[in-house]
Amino acid sequence: MSIDTKKFPDGFVWGVATSSYQIEGAADADGRTASIWDTFCRTPGKVAGGDTGDRACEHYYRYPDDVRLLADLGIKHYRFSVAWPRIFPEKGKLNRKGLDFYRALLQELKKYGIQPLVTVYHWDLPQWVQDEGGWTNRKTVDYYLEYAGALFAEFGHDVPMWNTHNEPWCAAVLGYGIGVHAPGHTDWREALVSAHHILLSHGLAIRAYREMGLSGRIGMTLNLDYNDPASDRPEDLAAQQRHDGYLNRWFLDPLFKGDYPQDMKEWYLPHIGSFDFVKPGDLDAIGEAGDFLGINYYTRAIVKEGNGHPLLKADYELPEGSEVTDMGWEVHPESLYRLLKRLQQQYTSLPIYITENGAATADRLIEGKVDDRDRIRYVKAHLEQAQRFIAEGGNLQGYYLWSFLDNFEWAFGYEKRFGMVYVDYETQARTPKASAYWYKDVVRANRIVD
Ligand code: FCB
Repeated sequence: MSIDTKKFPDGFVWGVATSSYQIEGAADADGRTASIWDTFCRTPGKVAGGDTGDRACEHYYRYPDDVRLLADLGIKHYRFSVAWPRIFPEKGKLNRKGLDFYRALLQELKKYGIQPLVTVYHWDLPQWVQDEGGWTNRKTVDYYLEYAGALFAEFGHDVPMWNTHNEPWCAAVLGYGIGVHAPGHTDWREALVSAHHILLSHGLAIRAYREMGLSGRIGMTLNLDYNDPASDRPEDLAAQQRHDGYLNRWFLDPLFKGDYPQDMKEWYLPHIGSFDFVKPGDLDAIGEAGDFLGINYYTRAIVKEGNGHPLLKADYELPEGSEVTDMGWEVHPESLYRLLKRLQQQYTSLPIYITENGAATADRLIEGKVDDRDRIRYVKAHLEQAQRFIAEGGNLQGYYLWSFLDNFEWAFGYEKRFGMVYVDYETQARTPKASAYWYKDVVRANRIVD
């Protein structure tokens, strides 16, 4: 009998992912107040087309239909996030109605046997927290713990898996350093202080979770890439090291090795003055062991020395003839395999979950159908690399496709479509794309299908 090389191990988790601000809409329903993304969307020039999340996919109202659609598409695992300003619309004020929405969503999922993975923070910081400095303010760690604690108390027994944070690099660096995400600041010290407070809030949330005696699993999701130097010139190799330090090691090292990487501390120091925001005990807290590592992987980077990135003195290259997605991101599945290998060899033996992977494609609805074959090809190629890692003994336990629905793609607004389900934003009609049916077959068969 031949071995089925396309099969995944029994119990492999197949899911889809979304996040609150990107799909919920209902921006001021039931006591919700503004998040930094509501504010950012109203700042001219920040979001393509002046789009906002006011309506998004109206998931807040349509969740029963959306959950039924998940079930129809054979999905058994669903990653979503909670909107912090629904839970604490004001300082110290817990909003029962906000909790009720997520209670209802969880009940609906349960009805169909769909297991939730809940992300506590996927970037929609309450504006009132930002008004006190946002993630640059150490007090935000306390606000976060109050918020996360309220979720654990309310849903701790119903949610088997928690993500403390989604992509701290994006929240800190894109939000406070480069300014293309909310709150739109451009200050490198703010970026690093924010990253530190986010990491600290993660470690302390794990402690709080454990102290509550809850039996589920908790971890964090990082956005990581695999990077290559543009040449073997020493300058390019050094630039690649810096890029790697900036995106990957700055987060992986404190989580798994107890400290920020020395080379990057030296590189950053003249830009930020000091690391006085790292207090005694912080690194211990950040290193608090989680139960898994979540990674979001989309593309790789090819790095050379240059002035494109002012902090890093680096530039990025796209090899001629590369295949790119609608985001302009190079399609490079093998780098997913290389990344997984590296994580296992250099960082952790914890189970890894791919909590996001997927592609934006220029989808069109024609006669009721969306033929998104490029998305299918993308996902398939990445699953093959995931499988290669597992076949060599790698501890990869799940894959969540980004995304369930087309949705609000941050600074790109509704221009970019990542969903396996097409959303007509005028009518809010949902149409599963070819990829949704293909993925349904994959999930059912627990193997890559053609
Ligand atoms: C990730 C985000 C997610 C989505 C994808 C395309 O960085 O976590 O919300 O926007 O990119």
